[in-house]
Order: sequence, then C-alpha cells, then structure tokens
Amino acid sequence: MSDQKVYRATTTAPVNIAVIKYWGKRDASLNLPTNSSLSVTLSQRSLRTLTTASCSASYPAGDTLTLNGAPQDITSSKRTLACLEGLRSLRRELEAKDPSLPKLSNFPLRIVSENNFPTAAGLASSAAGFAALVRAVADLYELPQSATELSRIARQGSGSACRSLLGGYVAWRAGTQADGSDSIAEEVAPASHWPNMRALILVVSAAKKDVPSTEGMQTTVATSELFATRANTVVPARMDAIEKAIHNRDFHTFAEVTMRDSNTFHAVCLDSWPPISYMNDVSRAAVRLVHDLNRIAGRTVAAYTFDAGPNPVIYYLEEDSDIVAGTFKSILGSGVEGWEGPFSDVLQNAKGVDLKSLDSRAVDVLGSGITRVILTGVGEGPEKVDTHLVGEKGEILKSQ
Ligand code: DP6
Repeated sequence: MSDQKVYRATTTAPVNIAVIKYWGKRDASLNLPTNSSLSVTLSQRSLRTLTTASCSASYPAGDTLTLNGAPQDITSSKRTLACLEGLRSLRRELEAKDPSLPKLSNFPLRIVSENNFPTAAGLASSAAGFAALVRAVADLYELPQSATELSRIARQGSGSACRSLLGGYVAWRAGTQADGSDSIAEEVAPASHWPNMRALILVVSAAKKDVPSTEGMQTTVATSELFATRANTVVPARMDAIEKAIHNRDFHTFAEVTMRDSNTFHAVCLDSWPPISYMNDVSRAAVRLVHDLNRIAGRTVAAYTFDAGPNPVIYYLEEDSDIVAGTFKSILGSGVEGWEGPFSDVLQNAKGVDLKSLDSRAVDVLGSGITRVILTGVGEGPEKVDTHLVGEKGEILKSQ
C-alpha cells in the first residue's frame, strides 16, 4: 500500500523592522538588493505568523496555500513558487543521498498560515509570512540547512523576509555574486545581547493605498539621482556604525543612524520620478515629537523609522519607557487600542513629559491621527510549535 500518511510541521515567525533600509534591487528576478540592510526582529508575543506545512501522497495534485482562511492562487505567485522550488530541490538532494527517506518531494504541499494581527493593523506581513513558509517547509522536509542558508530562499519570497528567519539584530548582506549565493541574512547579535530594546508602532488612520515597495524601489533605482550615493557610500558607512553601536549597546549612535537612514530612504523616494512620498503629516508630527523628546531629555531616548508607509516605529530602551512610551500614551489618550499586552507593565503609572513642553501642533496632529499602537520589543526568531493548522487527516483546522 502506498504511503497515505499526512506529514506536518508548524512554525511561528516574527516581523522585523529595518533600521538600515533595503531599498533597490540589483537583480529583480533573484531579488538581490543594491545595498545591505539591518533590522531588529520583533517579539512574537506581540506579532507573529503561524504556518503549518503538510504534504501527503493522498492530497490531490498541486500545492495549495491558505492565508488567514482564504485560499491563495499559488500558480500566479512567482515568489511563492520560487521558494517552494528551492526547498523541494534541497529535499530531493536528501532523498537522493538516502533512498530510505520517504519521497516527500513528490507529494503535493498543503500550507496553512495565519497572522495573529489584523490586516487592518497596517503592517506589511510579507516578511513574517515568507519566513514562516520557508521555515515550516524546511522543517517538514527535515532540511539540515541553517537559517542563514535558508535565507537565500526566503529572500526570493520577499527581500525583508530573509531577515525574519533570525532573532535579535540581523543583517542582510547584499553580496556581490551574480547568482545571489552571498546575499544572505546573518545574526549581528542575539536578542539576549541587548534585550531591553523596545519598539512602539503607531498605526496611522489614513487608509490611503501606498505605492507597493517592490514597485517603489524599482522606480527609485531607475530614476533617482541621489540613489547611487545612498547605496554605494552612505549605507556601507552606516552599516559599520550601527553594527558597532549594537555591539557596544550604544543607543545614542543606534538611534541617530536609524533616524538618518529612515530620512535618507524617504529622501531618495522623494527624489524618484515621479516622486514617491510615504510619510504624511502624522508621520512628520512623530518625527518632530521624537526630536523634542530627545532635546527635553538632554540625551537620545528615542529613534523613529518609517517603512514604505506612514506608520512611525519608535525605538527606545525599556528604562526610558516612561519618558518615551509614557509621553506617546498621554498624547494619544485612552481612545487608542493596543496599550495592553506583554510589554505594558512598565507603563501602568507612566506620565511622560509635560505635553506643554512639546510642539503643540505636532501633539494635535499626532493625537488625532493614530488608531492603534503596538507595544513590543526585540525578540527571537522562528519557533517550532505543535499547534498545527492542518489535522492528522489533512483537514484544515481553525485557529484557537
Ligand atoms: C521599506 O521586502 O517588501 O520595508 O523584496 O520587493 O518584497 P520585496 O520588498 P520588501 O521591501 C521592504 C522595504 C522596506 C525596508 C526594509 O524592510 O528593509
């Protein structure tokens, strides 16, 4: 009798927010970047994707993927196909070396994935999504490759996804090889090295659709005259500086490099033709308030960064929770969701600075422009779990 067993593996994967931004591809089909980037992996206690990869000879032909309850058309997603092909060929190598292994590479895959945060939270989920997909299938196939080796595959799903295969502080080395073999993610420091890093994500109300990052970066590479300077000169120096700052737990340098790199990234967006602007008045109010807070504190207590959208992400250290998160909490008031949760304890009695000492227009604009916050911090990489989203008979299970 043929093997009708359903093989399963389930993993969680985190979101990451870059402090040195990936923006620009030197090879769009292999998804190779023009510059290295560096991110902080965020705690999965706040945000995570849960993915079960399963396969069985009993499944009907064709791989399937269900995301948040909705079946996806994999055949039209070159990126998903590239990831699955990369993983299958590694499994084929294993099966060729050890003929006693079940021929999982021949079985259709059934992959089921869920985010624990609503799409309405306005967070790009592709990094956690592709990292979870690659990790789950790699576990299903019992691949011996390390997270760094698997990052070559995850990168083809979404560039930023390669950094979500690792926890803590993660660099994606741009590499120089044409085949992308040296374009990989590696740990700069584990979360335990600098565990008190916190991140406050402010979700901006405006539902305006932004230019997708893949399209935006192609426009920038093709048209921005400032872009080459950023990629070739500015970013390499910043990568060195921020890696040193992380090793030395030097928040002042970490923060300044983070803010400057966000600003330079948005400057090359604006220098694109036609120009791209992701930040809005609410974003700029947050920038103003972070500079105000650092001035009032007399030292650097907070850093902002913005991805391809208007949401501010504020990095700070736990010991400065009162002055940083406490101030934002008192500006936003209790009408905003998300202050509760695993990182909220230290904020119970936080007051922040006197709001009168801050730019009053920025306080008003930010105060009326944010719908929810996500309070989180640096965290670990993907974790293998046994809360499967596919049952023993291959049925799709509802999440808890
Ligand atoms: C601004 O990883 O979404 O968030 O590789 O085309 O899928 P693709 O792009 P993606 O771009 C992320 C851009 C960014 C900066 C960053 O995360 O480094």
